[in-house]
Amino acid sequence: MAIEKTFVAVKPDGVRRGLIGEIIKRFEQRGLKIVGMKMLWADEEFASEHYFEHKEKPFFGRLKEHITSGPVVAMAVEGADSISVTRKIVGPTGGDVAPLGTIRGDLGHMGIKHACEKGKICLNLVHASDCKENAEREIKLWFKPEELHTYKRADEDEVM
Ligand code: RTP
Ligand code: MG
Repeated sequence: MAIEKTFVAVKPDGVRRGLIGEIIKRFEQRGLKIVGMKMLWADEEFASEHYFEHKEKPFFGRLKEHITSGPVVAMAVEGADSISVTRKIVGPTGGDVAPLGTIRGDLGHMGIKHACEKGKICLNLVHASDCKENAEREIKLWFKPEELHTYKRADEDEVM
């Protein structure tokens, strides 16, 4: 178990649906610590950098169009195994297959297949880094070092 930082964002569809608080709550209540947070509106160049791993995919244009369609709430989230834990909290990509209890399963229902049939991407509210390398890269892209903070949560030392 390692204390890690990962990058999480409420995507423009989550912001537009008024789910910022509901989504942030899911990470906080699990015991993860928000060590950086801001709202910003990405431009196309920034979006290309963020999603560069998908640049050859047929849906890359749509992906950029969506992430630049409105403001995003960006967060750096710290905790034990936070990269895999946040991915579990978020759930699988398609809301139709994401289990109840996950953000995508509870708050969205749109599946990839359904979206693809309409020539779109599925809107799934939230992004979370999928590996250590991407977590480090994405935190560096979205935050300046001085925007990341060190503090103790009140429940941090609660062990028996
Ligand atoms: P994210 O990066 O946003 O956290 O999502 P993810 O890891 O669950 O999924 P990823 O494979 O990284 O895909 C990024 C976003 O692209 C859209 N997508 N569309 N048409 C398709 O087959 C397809 N596959 C992915 C989704 O909106 C996904 O969140
Ligand atoms: Mg991804």
